[in-house]
Amino acid sequence: MTRSRVTTVAVVGTGVIGAAWAASFLAAGLDVVATDPAEGAEQRLLDSLRRTLDIATELSGRSAADRGDLRVVGSVAEAVHDADFVQESGPERLEHKGALLVEIDSFARPGVVVASSTSGLAPSALQKFAAVDPGRVLVGHPFDPAHIVPLVEVVPGSATTSELAQAAVDFYRSVGKKPVLVRAELPGHITNRLQAALWREAYSLVDRGVATVADIDTAISHGPGLRWAIVGPLTAQHLSGGQGGMRHLLEHLGPPTQKWMDDLGEPQLTAELAHKLVAGMDEEMNGIDQAELLADRDRLLVDIMRLKRSSTNLP
Ligand SMILES: NC(=O)c1ccc[n+]([C@@H]2O[C@H](COP(=O)([O-])OP(=O)(O)OC[C@H]3O[C@@H](n4cnc5c(N)ncnc54)[C@H](O)[C@@H]3O)[C@@H](O)[C@H]2O)c1
Repeated sequence: MTRSRVTTVAVVGTGVIGAAWAASFLAAGLDVVATDPAEGAEQRLLDSLRRTLDIATELSGRSAADRGDLRVVGSVAEAVHDADFVQESGPERLEHKGALLVEIDSFARPGVVVASSTSGLAPSALQKFAAVDPGRVLVGHPFDPAHIVPLVEVVPGSATTSELAQAAVDFYRSVGKKPVLVRAELPGHITNRLQAALWREAYSLVDRGVATVADIDTAISHGPGLRWAIVGPLTAQHLSGGQGGMRHLLEHLGPPTQKWMDDLGEPQLTAELAHKLVAGMDEEMNGIDQAELLADRDRLLVDIMRLKRSSTNLP
């Protein structure tokens, strides 16, 4: 059995990601019961919501009057007691998440999905901590800034039924997210692996002196990154193939692409390379107000999201 109608979500851990989840859920009209034991956590959550809730509400297409209610409580048990869905966003360490999941699993009601925001831990490893109902523990991995970026990677563990994984996908979709069901447990799920593939070559090119840190950022954000935000890298390839699409593109440019792939670097992130990357970033940020850059990034992301919605053709 899964709880098909979610009206209350427990947000366990209200740091960067938990606070963003709270904004998304409240904006979608759901009540949120949040908990975080850190000193000053409640004030930080309220400060964060002041920055994010209007944006999340605008993106949800609802009005401020339709928002859910927030309640901050002092324990995990109290947070999950009446929840129909639990989103865990505690620190990214297995023993920490394990202790949290033991508690969540013992107090959550039967059939409630327990989703972990973990960026790298395997759901099957997390399920080992849930003695009552291991199958309901899965990964629901968001992307920063998670009150704006809609992607959520849903990764079922070995004990998860397809019904429960689907319930998580349906829930995220119902709150305006774009869930992708990941079909195997791999470090970094899908998207961080794709990012790692790009970072690997970027680090290598900087290490070899082929490009500066700023060159890499310019090359992507003024080049393919513009297309990727609209159609993704594979459809971008398909569209580059003209009438013949992906088939023609792979016949025509497949052989050189194979050569480029074979030539990619395999850098080790040594202290020396890390130093080069940090120095390159300091140079790129010279004269830039980082708070303003962050605000611009978020504002433009919202504009892109709005514009994307105006197309009925996007995949
Ligand atoms: N920051 C990102 O870009 C990002 C993106 C996607 C996923 N994630 C994942 O989200 C999770 C949280 O990351 P974050 O960046 O928000 O970290 P964070 O350090 O900002 O927040 C973690 C919060 O958990 C709280 N916490 C500690 N013990 C707790 C307990 N017993 N009960 C409830 N809360 C407790 C801490 O006080 C802290 O506020 C991690 O699993 C991380 O991998 C992070």
